[in-house]
Amino acid sequence: DDIEKGTYAHFMLKEINEQPAVMRKIIQNYQDDEGQLKIDRNISEAVKEADRVYIIACGTSYHAGLVGKEYLEKWAQIPTEVHVASEFSYNMPLLSEKPLFIFISQSGETADSRAVLVNIKEKGYKSLTITNVQGSTLSREANFTMLLHAGPEIAVASTKAYTAQIAVLSILAQVAARDNNIDTNVDLMPELAKVTTAMSAIIDDADRMEEIAREYLSETRNAFFIGRSMDYHVSLEGSLKLKEISYIQAEGFAGGELKHGTIALIEEGTPVLALATQENVNLSIRGNVQEVEARGAKACIISSEGLEKEEDTYVLPHVHELLTPLVSVVAYQLISYYAALHRDCDVDKPRNLAKSVTVE
Ligand code: G6P
Repeated sequence: DDIEKGTYAHFMLKEINEQPAVMRKIIQNYQDDEGQLKIDRNISEAVKEADRVYIIACGTSYHAGLVGKEYLEKWAQIPTEVHVASEFSYNMPLLSEKPLFIFISQSGETADSRAVLVNIKEKGYKSLTITNVQGSTLSREANFTMLLHAGPEIAVASTKAYTAQIAVLSILAQVAARDNNIDTNVDLMPELAKVTTAMSAIIDDADRMEEIAREYLSETRNAFFIGRSMDYHVSLEGSLKLKEISYIQAEGFAGGELKHGTIALIEEGTPVLALATQENVNLSIRGNVQEVEARGAKACIISSEGLEKEEDTYVLPHVHELLTPLVSVVAYQLISYYAALHRDCDVDKPRNLAKSVTVE
């Protein structure tokens, strides 16, 4: 273990720190000599033929799928649904005429996702697996594979695979848009390069993340993560990270849902972590923060450069608005990591969890 971890105390910290390098690797692997986006022709044709995409995944990979849906719909204009694999089997929606299934799985071995793959293959549908592991079951059994190029992920809590999944999905969606002659006004590779720099800046601010973890999460039994739009998806992932490794009961939800129940749980000192990276909902999420603060919550606002206000706890470097999950999540990963460390938790091997779940 010691050799592989190098100078890092934990695999999780090492893997968080590797994310800028993984972004660079993805940029290299998915562009041609002229710097144009490049994916396997058969994959872009399968996407072009599809009238609807069904993303199937579990856990963190499911959360990456939620972000991927935004890219496929907003950039490529392909209707997309995201489903938790374990539910899909019994609650299969009415399928479109020409569906394409995208399986997202770091390990490529998750049993619940595989069960869906077996099922849809029997029905004759096409599938693409986005995975970190070449030759994994889901990769071998699907028609097509896109690799994450993230290198082995050892810590149970997934970090670099999540950002790699989102980056690969952004590339897939941009290629699909190009194939359909849709001008998205996004030059993706330079935008991903900016993401790389922004990730490094946050990683360099690890001490600040440790302070935030200490200030907001050291004493608490629970914590809430709120956000709207893209920030909602990242709030789900942020709360999952925190609960997985620190055992703090954490819940992520949409800012607008606060008033429909969760606000009843806010007490004096309850930590609420809010993301404010989306211009069109900046005022509404800040309204939510005021609502919880009025009931005693201790709010930590993480915003994007350009949308920041004086009261914000941390300001993320500016990146393309739809790519903010790649950046905001790094702050949440680090905050969760330090919260778990402060509680003497086994960061890399949290209780009751397995890195890859090969049973139903
Ligand atoms: C396990 C891991 C999670 C992971 C999920 C899906 O529960 O602990 O970190 O997100 O499986 O794994 P996959 O390999 O399919 O992405």
